[in-house]
Amino acid sequence: MDKSKRAAVLAGNWKMNKTPAQAAELLDAIIPAVKDADCTVICCTPFVDLSVAVEKCKGTNVKIGAQNCHFKESGAYTGEVAANMLTEMGVEYVIIGHSERRQYFGETDETVNLRTKAALAAGLKVIICVGEMLDERENGVFEDIVGRQTKIALLGIDKAELKNIIIAYEPVWAIGTGKTATAEQAGEACGYIRSVVAKLYDNEAAEGLTIQYGGSMNPGNAAELLAQKDVDGGLIGGASLKAPDFKALVEAASK
Ligand code: PGA
Repeated sequence: MDKSKRAAVLAGNWKMNKTPAQAAELLDAIIPAVKDADCTVICCTPFVDLSVAVEKCKGTNVKIGAQNCHFKESGAYTGEVAANMLTEMGVEYVIIGHSERRQYFGETDETVNLRTKAALAAGLKVIICVGEMLDERENGVFEDIVGRQTKIALLGIDKAELKNIIIAYEPVWAIGTGKTATAEQAGEACGYIRSVVAKLYDNEAAEGLTIQYGGSMNPGNAAELLAQKDVDGGLIGGASLKAPDFKALVEAASK
């Protein structure tokens, strides 16, 4: 299967930005701007914005995602949100294992795996984030790190479920820093992740999997990154908060 047969997916990760009223305003700008997209378009908003976002995006081509979910169905987990709470609201996607959650909120490879399984069981599609720190890249161990993160995230997940999974390669040193991986580095890492998935499952599974690049992707560098044969889209932080930039990225991913 070649790249053109894989779904191109452009997802915005709004992180901890936008109140519900601001989210409505941003979506009012994004929805008409991306209506002709030839790729899947997702906006992952803060939990409190999901309700307004789902309502706004009904009948449009913009899908709504959350930025995390817990691995239990319910219980004494103060402050957490269960996967079925999201699906009941009409949320379709969830980001799991973002490096900011790994860095600041104690997320581990094991909890990424548990959360992924819970999200899939509830009917969500999952964007699993993997990526190395700067020192890990400098020490030449990025493949070990990204390989381990990918393998553990997918533990116990059947091949049939891969259609509901996207992997986002996000080198931590490129997130929010303005420092983008070169197109070659992004392409190499996404290709490596694909080879790991091929070993875990088979070539067909690996060739069908959408793998995104994320980390300071913007309208100026997107075309080159997205031209890489193993880069099937992007997970966009900063630039997803500006409708004109997001539109330009969606257009780049649609080519
Ligand atoms: P950035 O964030 O585009 O602002 O670097 C990407 C991400 O964290 O998903």
